[in-house]
Amino acid sequence: MNEIIIRNVLPKDLEECFRVETSGFPPEEAAARETIQLRIDTFPEGFFVAETDERVVGMLNSGSTDKDDISDEELKQLIGHDPHGKNMVVFALAVLPEFQKRGIARRLMSRFLEEARRRKKENVLLLCKRHLIAYYEGMGFTHAGLSRSTHGGAEWHEMRLTLR
Ligand SMILES: CC(C)(COP(=O)(O)OP(=O)(O)OC[C@H]1O[C@@H](n2cnc3c(N)ncnc32)[C@H](O)[C@@H]1OP(=O)(O)O)[C@@H](O)C(=O)NCCC(=O)NCCS
Repeated sequence: MNEIIIRNVLPKDLEECFRVETSGFPPEEAAARETIQLRIDTFPEGFFVAETDERVVGMLNSGSTDKDDISDEELKQLIGHDPHGKNMVVFALAVLPEFQKRGIARRLMSRFLEEARRRKKENVLLLCKRHLIAYYEGMGFTHAGLSRSTHGGAEWHEMRLTLR
């Protein structure tokens, strides 16, 4: 496989990021194209893509907030997003199926954590399904319990990584 480059998102990546989103999440959970656009426009500093052969094959996007409760839907639309907030919140981490299990998500997360540390954030928070708890534990997160979120009609678990 050719080299994988991890870089910040660019406006031209919208369509390919949307494809990664819809390949990774069922329709009731996937973010709309407009939402991805909003995340690119509002907080490209917290939005990373994995690129190979000039094609986006994975992405991680986020927002920032002082709030500790991330169960509401608003932040995902960047409502209440504060670039100086103490927490970074991961909205989506996804890799195209044919590129999975090659360490791409791990590289996206480590680049993102580097950025969170550089910005002197206190915590990284995210919500995930039960079957991915162990996956995020493997990347240094701890399980912080069941979230109040019912996004897409599913049960969500809160994961937390304290940076300082
Ligand atoms: C979850 C996802 C992002 C992982 O991407 P990936 O590029 O295949 O992950 P990596 O290859 O970087 O795997 C990192 C590590 O986690 C392990 N791992 C991968 N999937 C796992 C799983 N479902 N459960 C536990 N561990 C897992 C890998 O073995 C690897 O461990 P290692 O580095 O010790 O070998 C990918 O499967 C995906 O896009 N899924 C659909 C979208 C999704 O559910 N995203 C999470 C939203 S909360």
